[in-house]
Amino acid sequence: MATTMSLIERADAQEERMSDELDVIYTKSALANMEDGRLGASGMGMDTLSKHPGKLFLIGDDPRLPKMPAKPTLMDFFKFRARGANHLLQSATHALKAGMNEKTILACLLHDIANALFVKSDHGYWGAQLIEPYVDEEVSWAIRAHQALRFFPDESVGYEYPVLYTKYFGENYEPDDYIKDAYQRARSHKWYMTSRMITVHDIYSFDPNAQVSWEPFIDIVGRNFRQPEDGLGYDNSPVAHMWRTIRRPTKYL
Ligand SMILES: [Fe+2]
Ligand SMILES: [Fe+2]
Repeated sequence: MATTMSLIERADAQEERMSDELDVIYTKSALANMEDGRLGASGMGMDTLSKHPGKLFLIGDDPRLPKMPAKPTLMDFFKFRARGANHLLQSATHALKAGMNEKTILACLLHDIANALFVKSDHGYWGAQLIEPYVDEEVSWAIRAHQALRFFPDESVGYEYPVLYTKYFGENYEPDDYIKDAYQRARSHKWYMTSRMITVHDIYSFDPNAQVSWEPFIDIVGRNFRQPEDGLGYDNSPVAHMWRTIRRPTKYL
């Protein structure tokens, strides 16, 4: 009787084949495995090495990904690592046309940076943390809070519960308690409106055919994002490791 390979076994076999075709052995993080709905094998030590004679684990740049400059800028990360920036550019363009100030435009431009470069789960929190050392506190605060504010209407600025969320998560979806709490805290915060503006410009920014460009935002980024001289990831900031991990997601350690 022919044995049927499970999806997981097939994925494992595929990964092994890939490693065999290349010069190095790739390892996947526990998180990347969980994102595939499984717990990864804990091994990936000598036993794995012996299955691939003559090969070593990858401990540097991943040759399957675009090469990055030695001292990467924010723009380099978008250019070489992001899975698209169209939604962000649409959102910032909308804010620019509405005459928002530069902090708000930057917040719109970077509000979903976590989705673009890192992880989606709790994207507002990850995104805010990633840029926190390099922007005005108001910008990162607004990005962190937008995740919660998106679930709650504010008639004063014409923001309704997103139709998209009803389609994505169903009619009866209720946000988690920590999101409800975050909303309550944000509501009375002095920067509430900055974060609220992210949500307002967000809803107009899902047009797959929109023509957008970085051009209007280069100077705004230049003035409002403190690009470290040594490059993102090499400035010894509290989040430098996050940028390094985005640069080299499969580095063994
Ligand atoms: Fe978002
Ligand atoms: Fe968004």
